[in-house]
Amino acid sequence: MKAIFKISIILVVLVLNSEKLLCQRHISHNVKIKVEKLLKDLTIEEKVNLLHGFGSGEGEFGDKNTNLFGVKGIERLNIPDVYMGHGITGARLGRDTTVYATYMCTPIAMGCSWDKYLYSRVATGIAKELRAYGQDLNLGPTINIIRHPLGGRNWESISEDPYLTSKFVIEYVKSMQNNGVICGPKHFAVNNQETNRFDINNEVDERTLREIYLPSFEAAVKEGGALNIMGAYNRLNGEFMCQNRHMLTDILRKEWGFEGFVLSDFSNGVRSTLKAARAGLNIEMHGAKFYGEPMLDYIQKGELKESCIDSLLRDYLCVIYEFNINYRDRYLDYKIHSAENIALAKEAAQNSAVLLKNNGILPLDKSKKIAIIGPNAKGFDYNQNLPERTYYLQGGGSGRMYYFPNAIVSPYEGIRNFLNKDEIPYAIGCKTPNLYPQNKSPQINDYEELIMIDKAVEVAKSADVVILSIGMCGYNESEGWDRKTAKLPGYQDMLVRRIAEVQKNIVVVINTGSYVDMSNWEDKVAAILFAPYCGEQIGNAIAEILYGEVCPSGRLSFTWPTSLEDYPTCSIFRGKKYTDGKISNRYSEGIYVGYRWFEKHNKIAKYPFGYGLSYTSFEFKNISINKKSRYDYDIDFDVVNVGDCKGKVVPQLYVAEQTPKTDRPIKELKGFTKVELLPGETKRITIPLNFRSFAYYNDNKEEWEVTPGKFKIMIQENSIEKNLETEIDIK
Ligand code: BGC
Repeated sequence: MKAIFKISIILVVLVLNSEKLLCQRHISHNVKIKVEKLLKDLTIEEKVNLLHGFGSGEGEFGDKNTNLFGVKGIERLNIPDVYMGHGITGARLGRDTTVYATYMCTPIAMGCSWDKYLYSRVATGIAKELRAYGQDLNLGPTINIIRHPLGGRNWESISEDPYLTSKFVIEYVKSMQNNGVICGPKHFAVNNQETNRFDINNEVDERTLREIYLPSFEAAVKEGGALNIMGAYNRLNGEFMCQNRHMLTDILRKEWGFEGFVLSDFSNGVRSTLKAARAGLNIEMHGAKFYGEPMLDYIQKGELKESCIDSLLRDYLCVIYEFNINYRDRYLDYKIHSAENIALAKEAAQNSAVLLKNNGILPLDKSKKIAIIGPNAKGFDYNQNLPERTYYLQGGGSGRMYYFPNAIVSPYEGIRNFLNKDEIPYAIGCKTPNLYPQNKSPQINDYEELIMIDKAVEVAKSADVVILSIGMCGYNESEGWDRKTAKLPGYQDMLVRRIAEVQKNIVVVINTGSYVDMSNWEDKVAAILFAPYCGEQIGNAIAEILYGEVCPSGRLSFTWPTSLEDYPTCSIFRGKKYTDGKISNRYSEGIYVGYRWFEKHNKIAKYPFGYGLSYTSFEFKNISINKKSRYDYDIDFDVVNVGDCKGKVVPQLYVAEQTPKTDRPIKELKGFTKVELLPGETKRITIPLNFRSFAYYNDNKEEWEVTPGKFKIMIQENSIEKNLETEIDIK
């Protein structure tokens, strides 16, 4: 083989490049003038009607006659209706299950791509489809921190790390808003569990709030320019978020300079009229339980001032006029499911799959006789026209979307396409995970299951290599509940173990949106590819990765523990409502979340934060520091591809204060990038650091502070493997 040897020295100035291309949205002067005029023209009834939404729903909330979410306009003054969709995984309209779009990728998969610019392009793709469907606002993204591996909405979140989440949300917000969709990061704030989600009180100290749970919102507002925020269901330190003046006004508006409007999470977000209005909650979704008529009553009784209503409405009107929402060009002429978006979905999937284990079996040799086994390989046995079919290969709840009936490429189809074969030996192996909703325990000795496993064992025997496609789906991890176990649903563990008795060449492809316990069989398989729910092109991407057409480049955006017991007990979801006994969720692990916790308590993760294997290998060298001012530095270093194939690497920059006078994590992520290199190629990378890269939140002084002293700067391939080190001495 002809060796490729090419060294090119390229200066990649990170962060500064693409971020500059997309700028933040601000409310312009003309819009402010227009809105002041409107406020004079509107009657008090009209004003109040603009402060609550509408939407589908039963009972006391919502309207059975619509499938959409939004706020009704005032025709008399030409104030438009505003429609709100979801763009978490792809465009989705309210609760309409009949409107399909491109299934792009889930947030957890995007987090594992460590490619914020790819996320920015994915956001553009989703924004175009939202606009084509006449949606003005995106209820998302979900940027809450993954605190515990069993969290129901982990699949819908980006990471356990506030820095990684922040960098991603900045790009997403800018892309959405530059494409005409108002973007509403959620759920503000400290919304990390689904158990009793309407009735919990989270107790979090100020430093933990500032360092872990708020940075992604702060970044979304200050750097992304988000003009909407969704208030969460939970209480924070004794007060419900949608009536928490300290959070909605003091921090969000006064401290961060938020110029937009806050809407409540749906149905149960608002708990009172006066407190919510005075706290700065602009819009009640998705009906008028506390706003609407009750609000009007308070005004008429003189308990709520019209100036308060004006101030809430001003924020809302300014945003919708800034976005020039009007009836005329609501439906922009974008093609839904365009070739461009499908290609983007494929790129997202190619970049987000994480290779966790490889004994050398991968990339696969095309001449090997394979069999594909497993309940996730082909899709579930649904009626193709039911929306339920879209629980396959994505999580559940409002974040999921409805993909076109035949759009999703299953792992089986992807591999068959890639090998250009009509059929591949296949066995389902056991019942599909959707048959174990909320991971209910399987029956002991379910003979149907055992017979399915026996059949699969026979298929496995006749192959050189078995590709085992297992995992979960939207019935197993979802908004609305937290998982009670990390075990794979149903008989999947037994399936892997039984196959391993007759076959040593097993490649496991696991599709989940979060950690699952693989300890039962991990040492018995040759390779494990974690392909989180990564969009409709997932099967094609899996095939390309398994056969080496694409070099795996995903890195875990969360810690994959050895055991759930390694997590602090206070982070396990309590079964009781706050109202029954007034017991709070104390976040007593403080700032030690994810890898910060593991490092402080010397816990060994099975696969650490930032981890992922490649088919090639990289070296980092020649580190240098370029000091620009007291706290601003550029860290420059070379990345070399020293292996045999083209590949992408994610250099991660961690900062560690050397002799901290205050409690600080062993180290924290403060920079990263993703670079592609040909074999033999070298690129020079620059990662900038600033004040916040060294600072901690001093809760006595109520400000961010840097303690002068030495800080170790580490460039690593994941959070534990040491590569390059240098030191900065801040005087
Ligand atoms: C969820 C939100 C979602 C809303 C509308 C709520 O239950 O928590 O994330 O946007 O429903 O579907």
